[in-house]
Amino acid sequence: MFQSLEDDKTTCETCHACELGQTRIRSVFSGGSPYAKIMVIGEAPGKEEDEQGEPFVGRSGQLLMKLFAEVGFEREKDLYICNTIKCRPPQNRKPTLAEKEACRPFLDAQIAFVQPKIIVLCGTTAVSSLLPHEKRTITQIRGQWFHHTSGAKIMAVFHPSYLLRHHSLEAGKPRALMMVDLAEISRCLRLNSV
Ligand code: URA
Repeated sequence: MFQSLEDDKTTCETCHACELGQTRIRSVFSGGSPYAKIMVIGEAPGKEEDEQGEPFVGRSGQLLMKLFAEVGFEREKDLYICNTIKCRPPQNRKPTLAEKEACRPFLDAQIAFVQPKIIVLCGTTAVSSLLPHEKRTITQIRGQWFHHTSGAKIMAVFHPSYLLRHHSLEAGKPRALMMVDLAEISRCLRLNSV
């Protein structure tokens, strides 16, 4: 469908396949490196992302990048960052099924062109798109490995906005569990087992 990642991006920038094309300031295609082994998929752009055209640059994004940095991953070198849908829903409401479906070709092409080794799903919206048969909660499935048809390994983790609301570093709490998950991703890449 798309000839290249650049073609995917250019088409996305002027997309009007759903009504969010009328309310967005900018579509937010990706950040980080297209050569990264890790692809991070969030929910949707928020206010800052919509204004800047870059994913995960607001408060929750900054927290996520800080946590990745703690296990040695840099945004511009080690991560390819995008969202399930590319345009901001008004008032940051959850994306509808129709919006997710309209945006899906962009995401599928990103996975096909970037060919990540590991796909990190941040939060329930990303999980509902890439693990559609999964009925368990993030708390139940986080930290486990799943498989994408491309051969990539998938891991679901807490969304960073949830971590902003649950900031205790105590063992067993979401923030500590997030570090367990990021450490497992790092271990997996170090062992070259993906
Ligand atoms: N910013 C993003 O780009 N995606 C999210 O899911 C949250 C904040």
